[in-house]
Amino acid sequence: MKIITIIGARPQIIKSAAISRAVREKYSDELEEIIVHTGQHYDENMSAVFFDELNIPRPHYNLNVGSGSHGAQTAKMLAGIEKILLEEKPDALVVYGDTNSTVAGGLAASKIYIPVVHIEAGLRSFNKRMPEEQNRILCDHLSTLLFSPTKQGVENLKREGFRQDDAIKVDIDHPKVYHCGDIMYDNSLYFSKVSDDKSSLIQELDLTDKPFILSTVHRNDNTDDPKRLTAIFEALLEIGSKSQTPIVLPLHPRTKKMMDVNLSVELLGKIKNSAFIKIIPPVSFLDVIALEKNADFVITDSGGVQKEAFFFQKPCIILRPETEWIEIVKNGNAICCDADKNKIHRAFEQLYKNQNLTYPNLFGDGKAAEFICQEILNQIRC
Ligand code: UD1
Ligand code: UDP
Repeated sequence: MKIITIIGARPQIIKSAAISRAVREKYSDELEEIIVHTGQHYDENMSAVFFDELNIPRPHYNLNVGSGSHGAQTAKMLAGIEKILLEEKPDALVVYGDTNSTVAGGLAASKIYIPVVHIEAGLRSFNKRMPEEQNRILCDHLSTLLFSPTKQGVENLKREGFRQDDAIKVDIDHPKVYHCGDIMYDNSLYFSKVSDDKSSLIQELDLTDKPFILSTVHRNDNTDDPKRLTAIFEALLEIGSKSQTPIVLPLHPRTKKMMDVNLSVELLGKIKNSAFIKIIPPVSFLDVIALEKNADFVITDSGGVQKEAFFFQKPCIILRPETEWIEIVKNGNAICCDADKNKIHRAFEQLYKNQNLTYPNLFGDGKAAEFICQEILNQIRC
């Protein structure tokens, strides 16, 4: 069976490592995987860095679409992916998550009757102003196999009308929904030891055995609104100096660009001269795992990083009004604070050094990728 996997943005490249590993280690006789990189992310530290360190096969195709408005970017992807699908004639197309690359892949394949396999299906923020929410809803409703990492994801899909009838062969009109665990939990377990052996970032930053906070910010809602971006950086400055704790901030290129546009010269100066804010370029996945494992606390608007904070048992402030990963909030490990300075301060007081938090297993057994490969074979192979 031939599958085409679409990747494009940083988190998808990282996610794809789990499926590529399962194909290589268990299914190489039965599954051929062709990787198409849309080129949505293209900087060395947003894309190339991940392939060697995570042992991901080099993409067979790179569409090099680069950055652009939603419509222009998605349109270029759609045209490029369709052309490859018509030439390669795969049995199925695999897409991850909720980016423009995800929706372009789903739409290109479903229109020409190639079954779509959506990994990370069912997640909802219930905030349709998010481009990601639009992408996920569209992609789920174009998919034939939907793999949800959480029970909540399955519930969300049921509410949108997905019904199971095991007597009927699956197709786009009779899609099948699974609760299979999170492939990023697979990856975090698998690469944790590799990171211990290979990452030297903590020593390089002179943070060995020292307390520090990890922060990432990149959501368009936060970066593109001067008020929100200002509130977030003011809160980080205050938390750093009040707690006398360094905050390490691997800076997403979008945020780097928008800080210059949306922050005052005075605030930029304070950030630059702060003894506590350590801005560094985006880091590799092995390095981010080292940061997550060694940090005392995480402040982020990233979907991936908030969940990895949970995997590595770190409390977390989520710089959004809501999250798709509602389980970690319900269990008390993370608090959604939006870009509200008061909420951020209160949540920090509540969670920092809180010894009463528990981290139950909410994200599977680390074998989600194998399960997904097996079900692709079971359901789509004629
Ligand atoms: C995208 C996804 C978002 C995901 C994030 C992961 C969509 C709609 N958004 O957001 O869901 O959480 O990726 O990181 O698909 N840029 C560079 N170099 C790069 C990539 C981007 O400089 O390699 C800059 C460009 O100025 C670009 C901006 O970042 O315009 C935004 O990139 P884009 O891919 O459009 O969206 P993200 O904010 O990265
Ligand atoms: N990540 C990384 N280097 C960084 C920051 C994040 O490798 O400097 C990883 C992170 O561990 C997670 C993924 O990138 O697995 C999350 O990507 P991002 O925050 O860009 O997007 P989101 O998950 O919000 O879609």
